[in-house]
Amino acid sequence: MTFLACLGAMFVQTIPHAFAETIEETAAVCSGCHGEKGIPTEKNIPIIWGQMEGYLYLQLRDLKKGARKNEIMSAIVADMDRDTMAALASYFAAKPWPALGQPSASDKDAGTAQTANSSVGCSGCHLDQYQGTGTAPRLAGQNHDYLIKTMTEFRTGERGNNPGMTSLMKATSESDLAALANYLAGF
Ligand code: HEC
Ligand code: HEC
Repeated sequence: MTFLACLGAMFVQTIPHAFAETIEETAAVCSGCHGEKGIPTEKNIPIIWGQMEGYLYLQLRDLKKGARKNEIMSAIVADMDRDTMAALASYFAAKPWPALGQPSASDKDAGTAQTANSSVGCSGCHLDQYQGTGTAPRLAGQNHDYLIKTMTEFRTGERGNNPGMTSLMKATSESDLAALANYLAGF
């Protein structure tokens, strides 16, 4: 078990199931990794503050169903009911998106990313400023290492909850993917 997974298991036990009175109490558990002020404690943990509500809910649901697998998150949502997941999605979506201050991409990477976008049309779904909409997540300013990790996992099929994103990532070269991550993180 990785350190984070142990931490995850520890947190799970502290989720006050029977006594959860407010969504704030449940959400406090999330801050241990997703950050007190929305800045994740590790580079491969995604920002969830200010993320699209519909997207957040679908991820929690998919993690619970097993359509998306992650040692840590799957354990956290295992016993969560639908209402709690919906309430958490709405709670975090209403928070302001935090600025991580990641550097802007080099001109070379920006050019590569823009070319990839014009052929694949990422911004057709994720919108012009990569701000997301509905169940298509915001990508602008997302944690760089997480972006790389999750795009790679779509490509390998390890993240299997969206076949559309998997085909798109399979059609994107690894060097384009790296440029896209730099571009989106610094957007
Ligand atoms: C022990 C650390 C930890 C805790 C506690 C934790 N998370 Fe996570 N969370 C992660 C990691 C790591 C990922 C990335 C999973 C992956 O790579 O697929 C993640 C991913 C997510 C995602 C997917 C976001 C995206 O952009 O796809 C959501 C939603 C989420 N967590 C919500 C929550 C909520 C709500 C809580 C509290 C009930 C919580 N997390 C508690 C570590 C944690
Ligand atoms: C046809 C619409 C569509 C297109 C085109 C598209 N995406 Fe997506 N993307 C989605 C949807 C919907 C999701 C959410 C999948 C899920 O529910 O797990 C997603 C998820 C993602 C995620 C995961 C974000 C997170 O927080 O975990 C990344 C990264 C991403 N897309 C990057 C891209 C890039 C880069 C491109 C262009 C090369 C692209 N997408 C093109 C619809 C699209």
